[in-house]
Amino acid sequence: MISTNDIRRSFLDYFAANGHEAVASAPLVPHNDPTLMFVNAGMVPFKNVFTGLETRPYQRATSSQKCVRAGGKHNDLDNVGYTARHHTFFEMLGNFSFGDYFKEQAIHHAWTLLTREWKLPVERLTVTVYHTDDEAAALWRKIAGLPEERIVRIATSDNFWSMGDTGPCGPCSEIFFDHGDHIAGGPPGSPDEDGDRFVEIWNLVFMQFDQRADGERVDLPRPSIDTGMGLERIAAALQGVHDNYDTDTFRTLVGASENVIGVPAQGAQRASHRVIADHLRSTSFLLADGVLPSNEGRGYVLRRIMRRAMRHAHLLGAAEPVMHRLVPTLVDEMGNAYPELTRAQALIEEVLEREEVQFRRTLANGLKLLDEATTGLSAGESLPGDVAFRLYDTYGFPYDLTEDALRERGIGVDRAGFDAAMAEQKAAARAAWKGSGEASDSEVWFDIAESEGASEFTGYAALEGEGRVVALVDAQGARIEAAREGDRVSVVTNQTPL
Ligand code: ALA
Repeated sequence: MISTNDIRRSFLDYFAANGHEAVASAPLVPHNDPTLMFVNAGMVPFKNVFTGLETRPYQRATSSQKCVRAGGKHNDLDNVGYTARHHTFFEMLGNFSFGDYFKEQAIHHAWTLLTREWKLPVERLTVTVYHTDDEAAALWRKIAGLPEERIVRIATSDNFWSMGDTGPCGPCSEIFFDHGDHIAGGPPGSPDEDGDRFVEIWNLVFMQFDQRADGERVDLPRPSIDTGMGLERIAAALQGVHDNYDTDTFRTLVGASENVIGVPAQGAQRASHRVIADHLRSTSFLLADGVLPSNEGRGYVLRRIMRRAMRHAHLLGAAEPVMHRLVPTLVDEMGNAYPELTRAQALIEEVLEREEVQFRRTLANGLKLLDEATTGLSAGESLPGDVAFRLYDTYGFPYDLTEDALRERGIGVDRAGFDAAMAEQKAAARAAWKGSGEASDSEVWFDIAESEGASEFTGYAALEGEGRVVALVDAQGARIEAAREGDRVSVVTNQTPL
C-alpha cells in the first residue's frame, strides 16, 4: 500500500521531473490577500502571478498546499467527524502553469500520473467539462480515449471555478473516481450524483479571466493552469478505502487518540475520535503558522476548533487534557513534509495544554447547565438563545460547540435569540462606556468595532502585511467615506502587524 507521505512525494516528484518548480506550502494565513481568512486552495499563494502583478523565476510550479476551511466563505467545521470527507485542515496537491502550457498538457499530465504512475484503473475514472468547452472534451477523447458518456458536460458553476468574488477564474474539468457499486450514488450530472459513490479527486482549472470587483471580467495576460487534488481523497482511492478517515494518516492519529483516552473508536465514539484527529491537525498547523487562540478573527476560529475537539475528548471520558499528548504522533506523521510543524512542536503542546486546562475548568459546569436546560426538550425543538449565550459568555462555549453538543439528540439552537442576547450585552457595554466620562468622540470606535469587527493582530507571524481599509475617521472623530491628500485621518484596517 502506498502511504499518504509517499503519494505527496510522488506527486511533487512527477511534476518536478516535468519541469515544475517544487514550491513549499505557503503559511495558512494569506500574505497577499487581506480578504481571505485562511488559504483555502493551492493557487492562493500564486494569485498575483496569474494576474501578472508578480513574476517569478519559473513558469511552472507544483506544491502541496496546507488549507483550512473553517470560518469565512468555506466552512466545513460543523460536518467534521460525521462524514467521510469533511476536514477543517487538508492538503491540496497542485500543478500550475503561468502562461506556459494550457489544456492539452494539463490533461496529459493528470491522465499520465493517475493511470500510468499510480495505475488507477481507467474504467473507474469519469471526467466533466464546462458545457461549452468542446476543446477540453476533444482532448479527453484524444489523450485518454474516454468514451463520450464518460466525458460529462456540466453547465453550472460547478465547472467554472473562481477563487472568490474577485480574482483569477476560468472553466474547469473535474476527474471523478468511482468507489464501486456497493456505494449509493450516480456519476456527475446524473440525478443521484449527490451520492457518495463517485468522488471528485482532481480539478483542472483552465485559468483565462480575472474577475474584477466592478463586475468586469478581463482576459488574463496569458491562459494558465491551476489544478487541485485533495491529498486525503486520492489517498483513499489509492489505498482502496472509501472513507478518508480510513487512510493511513488518519488511522495513526485516531489510534493515538484511542491510546491516550483509552476508549476504542467504535459505535458512537467513532465520530469523537475523528473530530479529535481532524482538529488536532488544523489547530497544530494554525499554531505553527503563528495564529494564537483569542476572542477575535482567526484566533477565535482556532479557539472554536480546539474547544470542539476538547469537548469530544471530555465526552469520551478523558480525565485529563489530551490534545497536547497527541502532538508527537502528528509530528512523526507530518513533520518531514512540513518542518514548521516540528519547529513549533513545543509551542503547540504548551498552548494546547494550557487551553485545555482552562476550558476543562468550566466545561463540566457548562455541560451541566446545558443538560438542565434541555431536559424538557425533544428532537426538533430548540435551546433558547439566551441559554446558548450564557454558555458562550460564562462557560466559553462557542455557538457551534453548543450546536454540536445537541446535534445527536436532534435539538437545535435559537440563533436569533443568541444574536439578540449578544446585541443586548454590547449595548450595555456601550452605555457603561458613555457613562464613564471619556471623550464622547471615542464612541465612534464602538460603532466601527460593531459594524466591522475588531482589527486582527497579525504581528506574531509577520512584521509586514496587507490590510483592507474598513473605516476612516477624521480629526474631529467623525467617520468619513473618503480623504484627500493632506487630510489628517485615522485609518482602520481589518488586520495589521502594528
Ligand atoms: N483552485 C482549484 C480548486 O480549488 C483547483 O478546486
